[in-house]
Formats: sequence, C-alpha cells, structure tokens
Amino acid sequence: MIFETHAHFDDEAFDNDRDDLLSSMVSSGIGTIVNATSSKRTVEASIELTRKYPFIYTTIGVHPSDCDEMTEAELKWLEEMCSYDKAVAVGEIGLDYHYDEPSKDIQKKWFEAQIELARRVHFPMIIHSRDAAKDTLDIMKSLNAGDIGGDIHCFSYSVETAREYLNMGFYIGVGGVITFKNGRKLREVVEYAPIEQIVLETDSPYLAPEPYRGKRNSSLNLPLIAQKIAEIKNMSAEDVISITEKNARKLYHM
Ligand code: NI
Repeated sequence: MIFETHAHFDDEAFDNDRDDLLSSMVSSGIGTIVNATSSKRTVEASIELTRKYPFIYTTIGVHPSDCDEMTEAELKWLEEMCSYDKAVAVGEIGLDYHYDEPSKDIQKKWFEAQIELARRVHFPMIIHSRDAAKDTLDIMKSLNAGDIGGDIHCFSYSVETAREYLNMGFYIGVGGVITFKNGRKLREVVEYAPIEQIVLETDSPYLAPEPYRGKRNSSLNLPLIAQKIAEIKNMSAEDVISITEKNARKLYHM
C-alpha cells in the first residue's frame, strides 16, 4: 500500500472534514501516513491524530520558519516527546531563506541543535530546505548528518545537490511538483536518483499535483505522483508504490 511520508493533517484546511477524509485513507490504498510537525502546537495536534488513527505516525520538530521564539526548554520538551511510541523522526527541521525572518543565525542555531537531538534519540531527520542549498549542505556535512540519515522533503534543488545527499544515504521526498509544468528540475532529479532512495509525499494541504494544482491537497492524490515517477523511471506504478513503501519503512526505522 502507499506510504505517505509527509503531510500536515492537523492543518486548519482539514477542520471541516478531517475525520471523513482520514477514515477513507486505508480503503483508498493509503496504508501509512507520517504527519509532519513544525512547532510545539503542531506536535501536540499531531500526537492527537496518532492516538485516533492506527496508521498515522508523527515527526517531532520545529520548522526553520517557526524557530524565532524557540528556547532550550522547548528543545528539551521535544526530546521528551521523541520517546512517544508513535514518534518516528525529528522534523521538519532545516533552513528556509525564502523570507527574511527568522534571521539566518537563529535558523542555523536551531537546525544544528535539532540535528544533534536526532542523533541523541536515534531518529532519522526530515529536512526542509528552501532557497538555502549551500548552507544546508554545509551544516549537514560539518555535523556528519549522513550518520543520522533521513529524507530531504519536497526536494527542490539540482541533480548536483541531489547527488551529494544520495551519497550521504539520504532519501529524496517527491511530491506534486513533479507533475507541474515548471517541475523539470525535479523530474531530472527523479530520473537520476535510484528508485531505492525515493519516497512519496504530498506535503498536504499544500502542493496538490496536476490537475488539482492550487486546490487543497491530500494523500489521496499520491497515485498521481506515483504514476508520474513510473513514467520517468519506465516502470509500473505498482512497482513504484511497493518500492517506495519499503524505502519509507527503512527511512523511518519501522
Ligand atoms: Ni511540510
């Protein structure tokens, strides 16, 4: 069955029909969902979801865009949350230079702190990196992040950058962008990357694939992404689904 490696079902976009939607997942072929967190508030909401649905797991982490008021106490709280039995990764953590705030220094500080957190608790990392290719790679290399492992979620960089992460043993998270008219760069990365290092994700409610671009996304759209990968890799969508499911289980140590 399809393994969704990254979605945000605690998002308010799902407030009106969350239970109906999530109840339809397993019968629609979505076997496992990892709900990604970005702040203390979303960690709490995500844990609630995992209590309600046996097939939902959660990450634990603070997103670079949400780390402006992060404290050592909050870091300690995150570490405690990592011992929850349905927590499977530290994330999403990383750098996002798309907006000016929080400052680069603050983002780097909490990115490094959360890499070390992942190392301490033996969790893989879910990396968010936007408009920050060089700094992200520099930090990860300097902290030997390849020993920790994880996935570069919503991969948006070049084949050259992908090669660096693949060589470090990281997985590449592929979502709706692969269907976009301007998604050529990601299609090149998918062509280059071994299928054994690709995982499926939606980043729901964001980044719905064509023909739903701009609408609310959900994991139910993952077959469209698997189909596109299948075309690029010249294999069947069924094989893409079963191989990426295996990859995701390895990624999350399940
Ligand atoms: Ni996300």
